[in-house]
Amino acid sequence: MILVTGLAGYIGSHTAVALLNSGKSIVGFDNFYNSSPDAVNAVKKLTGKDFPFYVADLTDVESMRPVFEENKISAVIHFAGLKAVGESVAKPLMYYQNNVSGTVNLLQLMMEYNVKRIAFSSTATVYGEPKVVPITEDFPNSATNPYARTKLFIEGILKDVCKTDPEFSVVLLRYFNPIGAHESGLIGENPNGIPNNLMPRICQTAKGIMKSLTVFGDDYPTPDGTGIRDYIHVCDLAEGHIAALNKIQTSTGVQIYNLGTGVGYSVYDLIHTFSRVNEINVPYVVCPRRAGDVPILLSNPKKANDELGWIAKRDLEDMCRSSWNFVKDK
Ligand code: WQD
Repeated sequence: MILVTGLAGYIGSHTAVALLNSGKSIVGFDNFYNSSPDAVNAVKKLTGKDFPFYVADLTDVESMRPVFEENKISAVIHFAGLKAVGESVAKPLMYYQNNVSGTVNLLQLMMEYNVKRIAFSSTATVYGEPKVVPITEDFPNSATNPYARTKLFIEGILKDVCKTDPEFSVVLLRYFNPIGAHESGLIGENPNGIPNNLMPRICQTAKGIMKSLTVFGDDYPTPDGTGIRDYIHVCDLAEGHIAALNKIQTSTGVQIYNLGTGVGYSVYDLIHTFSRVNEINVPYVVCPRRAGDVPILLSNPKKANDELGWIAKRDLEDMCRSSWNFVKDK
């Protein structure tokens, strides 16, 4: 049985669908801090499969204990965590408490119940501002905000656990920029409160919830002056976790993989593609750069392609079309 922590979240819910559709049995938990029970029901509806789900919190070990007590878990995919860069700058201790201490709580339960395989949801922001792109997994790491630092700390904790227990198997998955939604429109990026990321803000502008989109700077050293990122369809990302699961079940020690497309798009590319494929206007105003933003983040996904037998298949039009399909009637 695979434990999916943070199952009700954006990437957790899409990965749960992929796991169930590939015949895996799963159990999940979430604290609904940045998600909703609707996502859990949608996963069950989409796959026609039921699975045990618990309301539990990483910072409360005893809330997680029934998950391990009542289910025979063979591996963990660990999504649960706070992920807003700006919020982490304002509330660093909340991020260290929840993400780092919470993951230590999870690992202690895994040890107690002899669960020794974990895929961890990490992020490309552990590369800081790379001197060149595309980025490979051996690039130096640095953190420019507490959120990214929590991810780096957790990567280090997992490496240390592998040093003390040779049977332990860890895959660190460094996501670039996940966007898009399942084609059904039943699950997608649905953060509680005001979104931080570009695509949900484009969607809210297209719906008229936001009057116009703020473009954070058009004076970057890029072809059109706006920031470039490696956007990856969340369903491709979910499929990457299935491939990673096969890897952790057949190996030990720590493996690190970039999950990206290797193709970069600018803010203007997203705005114009979104408008074109959805035939909808996205008004925007150019504002000063956002603190902490880097000009370009772009993956070299070759290691994941070669070693996991996984490659992103969906293109920017799919990402824009599916994002709008998820929000347009809500
Ligand atoms: C993308 C581009 C902005 C909003 C962050 C985290 C990363 C991961 C994904 C969690 C940048 C520009 C954005 C807006 C804009 N999070 N932008 N107007 O910052 O690359 O990555 O989210 O796992 O860890 O660091 O994503 O979507 O916020 O920004 O112009 O209203 O869009 O400047 O160039 P980012 P983003």
